[in-house]
Amino acid sequence: MIDWLVLDREIKIWIQEAGERIRHSLQNKLQISTKSNPNDLVTNVDKDTEQFFIEKIRSTYPGHRILGEEGGGDEITDVRGVIWVIDPIDGTMNFVHMHRNFTISIGVFEDGVGQLGYIYDVIHDELYSAVKGKGALFNDQPIPRLEEVSIEKAIVGMNPIWLTNNRRIEPEYLRRLVKDIRGTRSFGSAALEMGYVACGWMDAYIAMHLSPWDFAAGWVIVEELGGKATKLNGEPLSLLEKSSLFVAKPGLHQVILDNYLQNYVEKN
Ligand code: IPD
Ligand code: CA
Ligand code: CA
Repeated sequence: MIDWLVLDREIKIWIQEAGERIRHSLQNKLQISTKSNPNDLVTNVDKDTEQFFIEKIRSTYPGHRILGEEGGGDEITDVRGVIWVIDPIDGTMNFVHMHRNFTISIGVFEDGVGQLGYIYDVIHDELYSAVKGKGALFNDQPIPRLEEVSIEKAIVGMNPIWLTNNRRIEPEYLRRLVKDIRGTRSFGSAALEMGYVACGWMDAYIAMHLSPWDFAAGWVIVEELGGKATKLNGEPLSLLEKSSLFVAKPGLHQVILDNYLQNYVEKN
């Protein structure tokens, strides 16, 4: 049987080391290139950081598999065994433009069940983490379980682009929601935004097209605290596909599904 608390201690040391390397890299000129479109950025630091974790995992846990954004890991077509889901820098646009508000995001799953989650805000040196069944921490302080909130008082993270005409969602679904809640926020790192929901600083977060490495860590952390993380139609998330993401406090998740997203159909 795996002792997840042993891994937890080890991963935290690796994350600190990777964070130090990333902070140091900002003193040099970044090599920036684009991926699927001109706004989809990647840097040498994204690739180096992924490689850093892959080398650590391969030498320490050779039987584990790795799903990494930059492609240095394994081809994953099933969820058997232990899988590390790694986004070396979530919020690369923030990394490049703002030099802040980006995270290292790591989720560890066994047979498809999230066991460990880590979101590290590199510049603020803030770590959100969870071990399934043992609670979640913000740095080394326990995070209280999430409490219910009414729709009128809710702050929801989302990218305003989804209120304009787009091919993923009829904007009217979200416009109705935006009119009824207290406010919206957008921070440019899905993982960081899930960390904010975990800590109760935002009440929900909505995204339309994320990859498993964007949400794997946050999924573990938010659910450990009693929150819900699903697709926008309420269906379970999967490590094997891109999807929408809807994370919220208990109660609020169902209220929004029932009253605002009833007829929403997921588009791939
Ligand atoms: C991106 C960030 C961003 C989200 C994008 C993701 P990346 O991840 O999480 O907040 O809106 O969809 O691709 O590319 O910076 O790792
Ligand atoms: Ca990402
Ligand atoms: Ca990334």
